[in-house]
Amino acid sequence: MTNRQARIFAIASTAVAALIFLVLTLDSHRQFGELTNAENITPEVTSGKDVWHKYNCINCHTLFGEGAYYAPDLTKITQHRGEAYLTAYMRDPSKFYDEQKHRRLMPTQDLSEKEIADLIKFLDWVANVDNQGWPPRPITVTGSGVSGGVQAGQIPPGTTPVDAGDDPRAMGEEVFRTAQPSCSSCHSIEPGVNMAGPSLAGMASRAAETIDSPEYEGDATSVEGYIRESIVAPSAYIVPGDMYSSGGTSFMPTGYDESLTEEELDQLTAYLASLK
Ligand code: HEC
Ligand code: HEC
Repeated sequence: MTNRQARIFAIASTAVAALIFLVLTLDSHRQFGELTNAENITPEVTSGKDVWHKYNCINCHTLFGEGAYYAPDLTKITQHRGEAYLTAYMRDPSKFYDEQKHRRLMPTQDLSEKEIADLIKFLDWVANVDNQGWPPRPITVTGSGVSGGVQAGQIPPGTTPVDAGDDPRAMGEEVFRTAQPSCSSCHSIEPGVNMAGPSLAGMASRAAETIDSPEYEGDATSVEGYIRESIVAPSAYIVPGDMYSSGGTSFMPTGYDESLTEEELDQLTAYLASLK
């Protein structure tokens, strides 16, 4: 290549790259409205964003990977934790972890009820932005304070991946990971690993004990019935523990009776009933 050819080549390739960049940029801007659910930005969402800034949540947390890395990323938090849990958490985070054991704290911020409700609306809007896979790995906090516990869509510890085939239990394990919010972001099936929800190890025997106990006031008469009731009506019977409920309302999200099909509920129940 002569000098002249090299120069032309350099200029031409720069021009092509610049053009591609321009087209992609314009294309991204064209998609912003759609990707960000712009139509869902209600006054509550906007005021939730102001609360987020007012209390400097970003000094510890990230959204879309932006912010400080002291505390978990909250981009998809509302897909992992329901409103009851998030409300209780923001009222008093200290109830959810043991300062001695975890050494990392979230200060209690004295948020008003309206601020909390707006924050959740804001975080839910954030969670529904199509961020095209960024950040690449959701980081959720477990109730026991260990960050990066079981991720949605990941295999919970203590299980081996199986080819679901048409075994209802194996299919139930799949639902356990893929339901929205995912069961595995709050429940481990390893004994003693209590996250935002209690460990479901030994679920079958505990269900049998619970329905026989005098404290039980739900409607179930069998292990399967109890498990199903726990999923579709979490507050029918509440596992004792300060961090699991408040005023008789479980922090486990409601709505699985609508978001899961009958078949998926059966599979989930079969799976959990197999945890002896
Ligand atoms: C000083 C640092 C700090 C500030 C400021 C802070 N947080 Fe946190 N936050 C934490 C830590 C640390 C955790 C994880 C606690 C644990 O390990 O259980 C956490 C956890 C959370 C969780 C629970 C996540 C889960 O998976 O259960 C939510 C929700 C949350 N913060 C929201 C907020 C909001 C909203 C604000 C602002 C109003 C805020 N935080 C301000 C440090 C902070
Ligand atoms: C935001 C966290 C969270 C999510 C997500 C969640 N749970 Fe729970 N779950 C809890 C909490 C907290 C409790 C304890 C309070 C109660 O009894 O409702 C609980 C209790 C249970 C129990 C009763 C356990 C016992 O020992 O009696 C079962 C069964 C259960 N969950 C199954 C599920 C399944 C299946 C899913 C997914 C479809 C799910 N959970 C999703 C938090 C969660």
